[in-house]
Amino acid sequence: MLEVTNLNVYYDNIHALKGVNITVDEGEIVCLIGANGAGKTTTLQSISGIIPKREGTVIFEGKDITKTKANVITKNGIAQVPEGRRIFTGLSVLDNLKLGAFTVRDSQENINKDIEKIYERFPILLERKDQLAGTLSGGEQQMLAMGRAIMSRPRLILLDEPSMGLSPLFVEKIFDVIKTLKKEGVTILLVEQNANLALSISDRAYVLETGKIVKEGTSIELMEDKSVKEAYLGA
Ligand SMILES: Nc1ncnc2c1ncn2[C@@H]1O[C@H](COP(=O)(O)OP(=O)(O)OP(=O)(O)O)[C@@H](O)[C@H]1O
Ligand SMILES: [Mg+2]
Repeated sequence: MLEVTNLNVYYDNIHALKGVNITVDEGEIVCLIGANGAGKTTTLQSISGIIPKREGTVIFEGKDITKTKANVITKNGIAQVPEGRRIFTGLSVLDNLKLGAFTVRDSQENINKDIEKIYERFPILLERKDQLAGTLSGGEQQMLAMGRAIMSRPRLILLDEPSMGLSPLFVEKIFDVIKTLKKEGVTILLVEQNANLALSISDRAYVLETGKIVKEGTSIELMEDKSVKEAYLGA
């Protein structure tokens, strides 16, 4: 479904991604683990067209999107939930959800149905629908960010550190939603520093170190890998 080949990204003269190769099959959850500064966010943002690529190609559902603009990539079926959430803090919860559907061409009635579905997934967002998004708690903001991404009806979601800063209860809730999305056929590329959690929910994983993929395999293989255990699983 997604094929990233020889991705090279620079920030001025900093070579942030050095020939990254990643594939994601339809229906999979694939995770990308790595330390701070390894290039995880850069990988997601260059796939979604936010950061320009110096070299390499990104193919999505057979279509070359290497040079496609970010908003067109969203329209093509890829949604990103950015690190730090980036919701519109000055708008209500409901308006944030509506904006998530800006690339969707459908009747208002059907878009309202999508909003109802988001409220079913995250009942707290219904309770808070008229509240300014900036006044939500961190966990609620993460739910809103995911809800907004789902509003674009993506086939692939790029999720950047959904557990960051959240209490165990919220983390569990967010990961339940990720599992539900997978059951509904949505494909997910997940970035997580909580490698235990990421490997427990994903089918396959890649380990990124200073801009290079150093290991890949099924999540079960990586969970049992000695060097992965030592470096990322606290064992
Ligand atoms: N806008 C930028 N300008 C210059 N350098 C940047 C920029 N964004 C990221 N970098 C650098 O690129 C490297 C990769 O950063 P990136 O944010 O992709 O890491 P990450 O794996 O997501 O880390 P974290 O776990 O801390 O979120 C880092 O060394 C970072 O300092
Ligand atoms: Mg990051």
